[in-house]
Amino acid sequence: MVTEPAAADSGGPAYTLALPRRPQSARDARELMASALSAWDLTDDDGQVGVIVSELVSNTVRHATEATVWVSVRRMGPSTVRIGVADRSDRMPIARSEDLSAVHGRGLVLVDSLSEGRWGVDVLPVGKRVWAEVSVTEGGHS
Ligand SMILES: Nc1ncnc2c1ncn2[C@@H]1O[C@H](COP(=O)(O)OP(=O)(O)OP(=O)(O)O)[C@@H](O)[C@H]1O
Ligand SMILES: [Mg+2]
Repeated sequence: MVTEPAAADSGGPAYTLALPRRPQSARDARELMASALSAWDLTDDDGQVGVIVSELVSNTVRHATEATVWVSVRRMGPSTVRIGVADRSDRMPIARSEDLSAVHGRGLVLVDSLSEGRWGVDVLPVGKRVWAEVSVTEGGHS
């Protein structure tokens, strides 16, 4: 896997990676997250970052179009990171109200919960980027 710092468009340092739009890319996305957090000496104690990026990549596989997705992670503050997953589909995510009996439609409910509501969609010239922010721990394992 090749990672490289992305141009920062909102201040903090960031890493981004283009990946094929397929299920196996969730693992590469988690590895990018782990590399970035390690580079910044941050710890994702509860594994929220990995869960969120996995859900967002899965959504591109299930619901988006075109061959490639772009996964990014940006350090927004001392202990806050923003995870982003961009695809080239104009269809928008629709967060459903929580239905405990539903088999599908749980992914964004989970993202909303783990990010404490700090998620959204950036409309891009082609497609969109779904993002979510989470708090992580500075330094090694606590
Ligand atoms: N990247 C995306 N592109 C287009 N539509 C999306 C995208 N992500 C989500 N959606 C839309 O938002 C809906 C809700 O997404 P959510 O992840 O909550 O549920 P799901 O993917 O249908 O099911 P689950 O995640 O529980 O397997 C999806 O059914 C889809 O219509
Ligand atoms: Mg989903």
